[in-house]
Amino acid sequence: MPHAPVSPAAPAGIPALLTLFQPLARTGFLPPTAPLLDLPGPFQRLLDAIAALAPAYQGSGVRAALLDLDAALGDRRDDARQLSPAQQEALLSATAILMHLFRWNAVPVPPVRFQERPAFPPHLRALFRDLSAAHDLPACGTMHTLKYLNWRSDALTPGEPYHAGQVQAGQVRIAHNWHVTPAGDDRDLAGQLDLWIQTFVLTEARGQAVLTAAAQALAAAHHHDRPALEAALEALHAAVQAMTRQINALMRFRVVRSDLWRVFIQPTFGWGLPVDGVPGGPVLEGASGLQLGGTQVADLALGVGFDSNLGRALRHSRASMTPPQRALLNAWEPQRNVIRAAVLDWGGSRARDAFEASLDDLRLWRVSHRERGAVYLRGDGREHVMASTGTQLDPGTPHEQAFRDLMNERIGETQARTLRGPDRPADL
Ligand code: HEM
Repeated sequence: MPHAPVSPAAPAGIPALLTLFQPLARTGFLPPTAPLLDLPGPFQRLLDAIAALAPAYQGSGVRAALLDLDAALGDRRDDARQLSPAQQEALLSATAILMHLFRWNAVPVPPVRFQERPAFPPHLRALFRDLSAAHDLPACGTMHTLKYLNWRSDALTPGEPYHAGQVQAGQVRIAHNWHVTPAGDDRDLAGQLDLWIQTFVLTEARGQAVLTAAAQALAAAHHHDRPALEAALEALHAAVQAMTRQINALMRFRVVRSDLWRVFIQPTFGWGLPVDGVPGGPVLEGASGLQLGGTQVADLALGVGFDSNLGRALRHSRASMTPPQRALLNAWEPQRNVIRAAVLDWGGSRARDAFEASLDDLRLWRVSHRERGAVYLRGDGREHVMASTGTQLDPGTPHEQAFRDLMNERIGETQARTLRGPDRPADL
């Protein structure tokens, strides 16, 4: 998918940049309060519909039932504007999920769905568009709405503030599941979708420590404080390691099953329709790995550029993040060499080692993501399945070599920031 150039923000001073970390300090790129599980009045029916539609989503399709629900719902935009911010976010998530279910109708998805411009249920669509605009998000599902607002934890109270450190494996589960597992169905699609949502929520929870360490490293670089820089970079290394381990722990073929993922799990997350009113315009991507905050934070802390095709796609994907998340990443980008320059100029060997180890872990994660991703994209190896991600959204078997080329370019862009590399004097 071509990505329009996004002009970088004018460089902010480091103190101004550090203030942009504050809204994300406690939970990173996860929402600041635990997602609500219930909604008042007619809106609860939308939440309940997600699970109720699951058998049809695996069978004859959800569209007729969603049109009935829509007629009963009516125009609820004024009621929605009266809800609290957390309720509005929960409703945004519910409407985003229902719009994606309507868009794809059922899984496996037949190729014809890609060319369709479906007539969405009018009230649901209007409500969804209103809420998306109010949250300054594109009018399609995103990582934030489809995943980060759709989980629960035994350790947390819905609607209450929490710390990302409280979000731990074994306690997190999907909140509203659009798959179901009938007795005796050993594919356990409901369990598979649950694991897929968990993967991203848990990764982003570990990303909060990356964010905290990066802010400390930036402040230390700004104050020319060597012990603080060493400590922050060692914390950054530990955090990058923990985040990438978390991804790899769940991205195992017998956990998230590679024979089922591309046919039954992934398709729902793509969108692939143009922005309304711009028929030939660029298509909206839906939720993709590009919108993971923790890895972009690690990139920026280590000075990794965004000029490769994937780099530009990552920058473009920030439009699908919430405004405070987007503001931080965009303002940081012109300052992304600050930590690296401090390490090289006066950081000393401890800081260098920790910086280099962090960069190496990020690069190694990208290599492992490329290898594992290729297996998932192959899926069960049959033609009828499809890819639906930010950069490839076509029916048929996704192009493995195109995926590898994209990833290799990004791996090279990561590696280029090594302190050992030949580019050291030139690109400071
Ligand atoms: C299960 C198999 C997976 C496949 C087939 C896959 C595929 C892809 C593809 C095709 C892209 C390019 C952008 C796009 O088209 O969306 C991408 C990017 C990305 N994916 Fe995945 N992905 C998988 C799992 C994951 C997981 C579990 C995570 C993390 C929790 C993840 C994180 C990312 C990130 C951060 C990017 C941006 C590129 C980068 O920073 O290197 N992916 N992935």
